[in-house]
Amino acid sequence: MRKIAIWGIADIGQLVIKQIKGYFKEWEIVSVIDNNPDAQKIEILGCPVEPPESGLDVAKGVDLLIICSSNYYEEIGTEAVQKYNFPEERILFVKTSWPSGLQMHPAIRQENIRFMPLSENLEYIKNVIEELKASEGILNSIGIKYGTDKASIMIVENGIRLTHDYLRHYDRLFQNARNEKKTICELGCGNGASLKMWKEYFTQADIIGVDINPRAKGFEEERIEVICGNSTDEATISQLRDKGQFYAIIDDASHAWGDMRVSFEKLWDLLESGGIYILEDCFCGSQGAFAQYPPVVYDSQSIFDYVLSRAKILNFCKDWNPEYNHYHFNHLPDKVKQIERELDCITLIYGACIIQKR
Ligand SMILES: C[S@@+](CC[C@H](N)C(=O)[O-])C[C@H]1O[C@@H](n2cnc3c(N)ncnc32)[C@H](O)[C@@H]1O
Repeated sequence: MRKIAIWGIADIGQLVIKQIKGYFKEWEIVSVIDNNPDAQKIEILGCPVEPPESGLDVAKGVDLLIICSSNYYEEIGTEAVQKYNFPEERILFVKTSWPSGLQMHPAIRQENIRFMPLSENLEYIKNVIEELKASEGILNSIGIKYGTDKASIMIVENGIRLTHDYLRHYDRLFQNARNEKKTICELGCGNGASLKMWKEYFTQADIIGVDINPRAKGFEEERIEVICGNSTDEATISQLRDKGQFYAIIDDASHAWGDMRVSFEKLWDLLESGGIYILEDCFCGSQGAFAQYPPVVYDSQSIFDYVLSRAKILNFCKDWNPEYNHYHFNHLPDKVKQIERELDCITLIYGACIIQKR
């Protein structure tokens, strides 16, 4: 059994430590260190968190000291070597503030660990960080900053919570429109976190939020407007119609399957050509997520199945043998047939459906 010490447990560091534990199955964590006195009050994986003096004392004989830090890894590494005489070739850095740090770059895995001097190690981790930044979408980091559960993690008191991790997918679709003058609509504003995120990400866009809870009106600011109402109601839809065409509509409202379908079918025409409609948290069922806001429509068909049924059209070339294929579709309501004709692409991810208009 080889031994590891970990220095740095702040927010994301705690999750990194859990992942390290997963990767380094045969290794034992013998010491957890943090300079912050508040951190020293807790335990990580059964290890008390200690200040550097006592923690490194325990850590003297370890095979590897992993420094989990967002910004100060260089200083901590130097301190470990210069002040505590820790052998520099046994220090490894894991950058923690960048969300992809959570996915543990393959280079950081046990089988790829190379022991090297501090200076090379610093160079190495800087390259890893650059690689991570290149592979990670900016939208996720903005989402984490504002605390929406669409991001990969949420920073909460005493640590972090894993959340839906939708944003890296959205980023790929949205990035070309980031600086264009667009209008974005989100159904369901929560505490306003995602409205702020969209505003920062889409630098020129107007953000229109919809929420049944009148308190959401308080989230209004420059480029953010909120319409209060039920997202399925004609009165709400007609106010949205006055805003023109939307580049993206994100349904993060009641999450009840019936409500999601009704809003989708009513709002489809407000989506511009090439626009993107997103249905989030599709796992919430026919009752939705909010007891205080029961669904207007109870569908027993899951919204995922509804979208999959629409996707069937993508399997037929529209000009190829239309008579033969027609019976698949002729029983559908006209609105649904129209939506299917206008579909360009459907992407299914864990928990959400992303539908692009032709
Ligand atoms: C999950 S929260 C939205 C979180 C927010 N989008 C974020 O990511 O930060 C859902 C919101 O939907 C609102 N809501 C629930 N049912 C609704 C409905 N039928 N129409 C409009 N808003 C609704 C709730 O009041 C709540 O604020």
